[in-house]
Amino acid sequence: MAAINVTELDGLGVELSGLDLRALTESDFAMIQAHFSEHGVIFFRDQSLSEADHLDFARRWGDVNVNRFFAALPDFPQIALVAKEPDQADNIGGGWHTDHSYDHEPALGSILVARELPDAGGDTMFASMYKAYETLDEETKAEIEHLKAVHSGKHIFGTESSTYYQNSDAGNGRIGNPEKADELTDPVHPVVITHPLRGKKALYVNPAFTVRFEHQTKEESEPLLSKLYAHVMKGDFQTRFKWRKGSVAMWDNRSTWHWALNDYQGHRRIMHRVTVEGCALN
Ligand code: SIN
Repeated sequence: MAAINVTELDGLGVELSGLDLRALTESDFAMIQAHFSEHGVIFFRDQSLSEADHLDFARRWGDVNVNRFFAALPDFPQIALVAKEPDQADNIGGGWHTDHSYDHEPALGSILVARELPDAGGDTMFASMYKAYETLDEETKAEIEHLKAVHSGKHIFGTESSTYYQNSDAGNGRIGNPEKADELTDPVHPVVITHPLRGKKALYVNPAFTVRFEHQTKEESEPLLSKLYAHVMKGDFQTRFKWRKGSVAMWDNRSTWHWALNDYQGHRRIMHRVTVEGCALN
């Protein structure tokens, strides 16, 4: 086995090489967990994970979520298909977001395996919500310290004609259950969370699923939410991951945002995603 190399990336994240995710020792796994918790996103190259291996790796982290809105692989209901076919214009995850913030116990993380890639494009962007919080000015930190925000998946996955998936071809026959989205009860999460593993503060609002601050209307919430989003989108604490055959990424949904770039029209991109259950955030 090759030596394990850890390359810290600009912005956030680490690339770990010299590891075979199918054959990790307890100490390898503890080292991976420590990097995950510290850096928010970890990348692996040159892996050969079967679907069963993908699930085995995910189960080391906790219970696996069965996605309610994405299509699953026929033989693996716990593996969600994040696919874009050559005839589709829109993609899944094509805007800054963090997965499952519309849940009362948002997912710990997601593990994405590249299965079929376009020749060019299809990178994924990540942003650090630890660094986003740290670099806010003191006045804004004080303003958001005790705020909470309402999150929802209804306007993205639901039946209303205005929802994202009713107005895009990203889901075409691949995402379902809009009625289930309508039934979601919208959770309220702190705007600044203390990360459950690392005990460090992170900004926890995102443009896809955060709808407003608690006790405020959408209109009242908009100026401050936009200011927070603009701060993250400046790009000072982002990284861009270029996928290759055998690449695997695992991100922490509590301390990062991500965005699947949609710059490969006319080409197929097939990814398999397994999401690990999380806990309530404080
Ligand atoms: C996602 O948002 O989970 C998909 C990310 C990607 O396809 O790069």
